[in-house]
Amino acid sequence: MAQIANLPLRLSPYLSAEKIQSRVKELAREISPHFFPSSEPLIAVCVLKGSFMFYSDLIRELDGNIECEFLAVSSYSGMTSSGEVKVTLDLNRAIEGKNVLLVEDIVDTGLTMNFLIQWLKSRKPKNLKTVALLLKPDALKTKCDLDFVGFKIPNDFVVGYGLDYQGYYRNLPYIAQVQSFN
Ligand code: IMP
Repeated sequence: MAQIANLPLRLSPYLSAEKIQSRVKELAREISPHFFPSSEPLIAVCVLKGSFMFYSDLIRELDGNIECEFLAVSSYSGMTSSGEVKVTLDLNRAIEGKNVLLVEDIVDTGLTMNFLIQWLKSRKPKNLKTVALLLKPDALKTKCDLDFVGFKIPNDFVVGYGLDYQGYYRNLPYIAQVQSFN
């Protein structure tokens, strides 16, 4: 269990709000042809809580019929992954035979994404794609089937734009690296 840090932490800006917004628009343009112009709806799944900001920006850029679904998982205590992923909020509907986009904030060890992909696949969607805003390639501990990635970043702890440290900093419109936890 990580120690409770003295807040505020020392942060250094890493990805500006403008840079994030422009990459989100690009991602939407990359993702759209995989689901639209088919008239079938897309079920966009937001992984709470970290993805909520990315998710809401991304779906507003996707031009098609979208159903919003939310799930929540717990796997982190402080800065380290416990490795054990638990679904704490389940989807509200069946996804069998449906087009599904899984929207994650960040892939670090890959354990959460990997778990969620298997978990969703077991529900037999017709077409499952995955997008993560951030990927830490050097932190991966497992193979992870990501279809779309916003930014590859170094193996440093980041906060903002939905990402938290002990519940704080989610409301920053940009992403910052934590310089020090003291
Ligand atoms: P993974 O299972 O190790 O890939 O971790 C995925 C989850 O850990 C993400 O959905 C985040 O909630 C959290 N996480 C991983 N790295 C960071 C970080 O740098 N900042 C904030 N949360 C993180």
